Amino acid sequence: MSAQSSSDKDVIVLGAGAAGLFCAARMGQAGKRVVVIDHAEKPAEKVRISGGGRCNFTNLETKADRFISANPHFAKSALARYTPWDFIDLMGRHGLTWHEKTLGQLFCDQKSGAIIQMLLDELAAGQGALRLGVAVEGVSHADGVFTVATSEGAFAAPKLVVATGGLSIPKMGATGLAYDIARQFGHAIVPTRAALVPFVFTGADHEDFASISGVACDVRAAAGGAAFEEAMLFTHRGLSGPAILQVSSYWQPGEALTLTLLPETDIAETLKAAKKDRPMHALGTALEGLFAKRLADLILRRAGLEAGARLADLSHATLDGLAAQLTDWRVRPAGTEGYRTAEVTAGGVDTAGLSSKTMESRHVPGLHFIGECVDVTGWLGGYNFQWAWASAAAAAG
Ligand code: FDA
Repeated sequence: MSAQSSSDKDVIVLGAGAAGLFCAARMGQAGKRVVVIDHAEKPAEKVRISGGGRCNFTNLETKADRFISANPHFAKSALARYTPWDFIDLMGRHGLTWHEKTLGQLFCDQKSGAIIQMLLDELAAGQGALRLGVAVEGVSHADGVFTVATSEGAFAAPKLVVATGGLSIPKMGATGLAYDIARQFGHAIVPTRAALVPFVFTGADHEDFASISGVACDVRAAAGGAAFEEAMLFTHRGLSGPAILQVSSYWQPGEALTLTLLPETDIAETLKAAKKDRPMHALGTALEGLFAKRLADLILRRAGLEAGARLADLSHATLDGLAAQLTDWRVRPAGTEGYRTAEVTAGGVDTAGLSSKTMESRHVPGLHFIGECVDVTGWLGGYNFQWAWASAAAAAG
């Protein structure tokens, strides 16, 4: 295929994901000649699988403290200038509706495919070109022009927007291209790590958790100075569920995780009240009033207590001791499931080298980084897409 002429486009966008498509659409509608290049055969595959197929496209609670970054202030400007309501308005113009599930998390009623179609329609409205199945072979920059060598020839333009995401889910085509380009142009990379990811365990913890795989429990999970109260899920490899995914983004390897089971319940008082009201009941029965039976059995086994012990025969100190174990349960993950299942990649292109207003490189005029490849990582619940939209809008200008 023939090379494109250098005057062909005003902007090249690498990555046809959430951020890249949205940025290209806005620039196209502002009169720029845009081409989006992606090595995948289909655009925005992560949008398609997001939110269990219903795309948790934003969060009404969006504010900078819901994002992890070496510079916690960096995201503020972009997030303030493109808000969840801006995206909701856009969806409304496309006839799309939404519902709030919990904690400000908004999902699309028409499913994630409708969000992708909206992004493609917006791109088409600005005459943006989309080139899928194109391998990027290298990027160079001379005389104010970026040249992208690809399997389909060279593309050249004075503005390059890198939106190729992070390392999560390599099976879906995730690569470190954005980091490579950033390094090539003198940018630092904040070390990357899998985030919003389940924990894996070894030894007795692994055996115990696997034995009750599928059981869920409300917890407060704390690590790395952060704590989240939501559901936790025991899995055949360890622990997952929203509270665990959230805290995984803050966890440091080797660190213990502190779990408070049923943080809304005073377990000690509940057990003592059960002893007073129903002294002949078994401890196991009392615990089953609080937890799924398989979890209750595991708790008793780990505590070395008999399920059949009568409450009347147990001292308050024993009940307090059991409750204390459940409110301050320390477990030490062997690690995380890694990029294979991580919902996002934390770390990335160091924001110190970027303008928070335009996402433009401070080293190379015309070079921009947006979306997940930047060292801005949202909590679970629509925050990462809101960052994709907001950083894309900032770079589009
Ligand atoms: P994104 O990864 O979307 O796009 C990058 C694009 O670049 C891809 O199309 C890829 O093919 C392309 N690319 C990569 N390397 C390339 C190369 N070398 N050459 C050419 N092209 C290349 N977030 C949220 O807010 N709500 C949610 O409900 C969910 N749900 C969810 C579920 C699952 C299973 C995952 C894995 C992730 C989520 N997320 C989420 C996170 C969210 O999907 C993610 O943060 C955004 O998609 C990031 O958008 P980007 O456009 O930055 O990258």
